[in-house]
Amino acid sequence: MFDAEDVHDRMIHVGIFLGKHSVARFITSYIFRYSNTMLEQSINGITFTNPIGLAAGFDKNAQLTDIIPCVGFGFIEVGSITGRPCVGNPKPRLWRLKKSRGIVVYYGLKNDGCSAIHKRLRSKKYTLPVGISIAKTNDMHTVSTTSAIADYVKAYTTMSKIGDYDTINISCPNAYGGQPFSNPIKLNKLLLAITRVQSQKPIYIKLPPDLTHTEIDVILLVVKKYTVAGFVCSNLTKDRKNKSLRIYDKNIPNHGGISGKVVEELSNQQIKYIYTKTKGKYTIIGCGGVFSAQDAYTKIKYGASLIQLITGMIFEGPQLIGEINKGLVELLYNDGFTHISQAVGKDVL
Ligand SMILES: Cc1cc2nc3c(=O)[nH]c(=O)nc-3n(C[C@H](O)[C@H](O)[C@H](O)COP(=O)(O)O)c2cc1C
Repeated sequence: MFDAEDVHDRMIHVGIFLGKHSVARFITSYIFRYSNTMLEQSINGITFTNPIGLAAGFDKNAQLTDIIPCVGFGFIEVGSITGRPCVGNPKPRLWRLKKSRGIVVYYGLKNDGCSAIHKRLRSKKYTLPVGISIAKTNDMHTVSTTSAIADYVKAYTTMSKIGDYDTINISCPNAYGGQPFSNPIKLNKLLLAITRVQSQKPIYIKLPPDLTHTEIDVILLVVKKYTVAGFVCSNLTKDRKNKSLRIYDKNIPNHGGISGKVVEELSNQQIKYIYTKTKGKYTIIGCGGVFSAQDAYTKIKYGASLIQLITGMIFEGPQLIGEINKGLVELLYNDGFTHISQAVGKDVL
């Protein structure tokens, strides 16, 4: 019943408060965390105690890295972080789709900018892998390809010594000037500039879910030329004709991208397509509409090694993370697997 963005902001404050106090962290861990060695993986040199991560966009300013491991997550992706601070789009910019179980997001990359976030994180110690999501500042100064790339590179360079992996977000549906970096020529220029920066961290690319197979094929050809570890499949959908949108929720704003169950099938099909097409060459982080262990398992069997979520946690509550991890162990066990890696891609290759 409350405004969705107000609730989001309040949850961030609760998370910051709990993260500061060791007793609160201990109690939160005691209530929520579930551990099992069947879920531990080492991927691109990073150890993940479980495959369920918090997707980019919830902790935009990297304020929750202390409490998120206690809630049961195996990793967190902070951001998206941009070259300059960014206030985002005018409010309102977040709407819940109760029947469709999704959220319309029109934040427009609000964040404190790379310098402030670097300062916040540079002396921190983490107890879980931290991904840094990089995007371009959402304003008229980054509309040209050259200025947009300079902005991405600024954020990427500033954050190059922080965290464990980077995700290049080429798919924010709400940025000034559209989503230009899913265009192959621009993507090539962006990756050329990004990979020139010295960094030890693996790079992932976050894709929009609305790409055709031909568009994905072209992106794969571009990406092949660079050292890219994998893909996050996927971001928010822009498609208002999506079959998972329920009639009750049809009266939604025309701007913004949609999360949750509305994007789930698009994300699943993209995971399946990329995993099959590249024969499992890339690590896939499956993201979109995960509300249960079975939802996560479907993505894993289509080729995802790791999973991210936001909307499932918003609709179901923070106990969902532990429930998914516990449920995954049961599903693996029922299928005769002794480790999560044995299930990756099993429904496609
Ligand atoms: C409130 C909100 C804000 C988001 N902001 C970002 C963002 O800044 N960067 C990004 O790459 N994705 C962002 N996303 C997309 C999510 O990371 C994710 O790709 C999408 O929501 C699908 O996952 P879900 O169905 O589990 O929410 C955002 C999603 C939500 C719900």
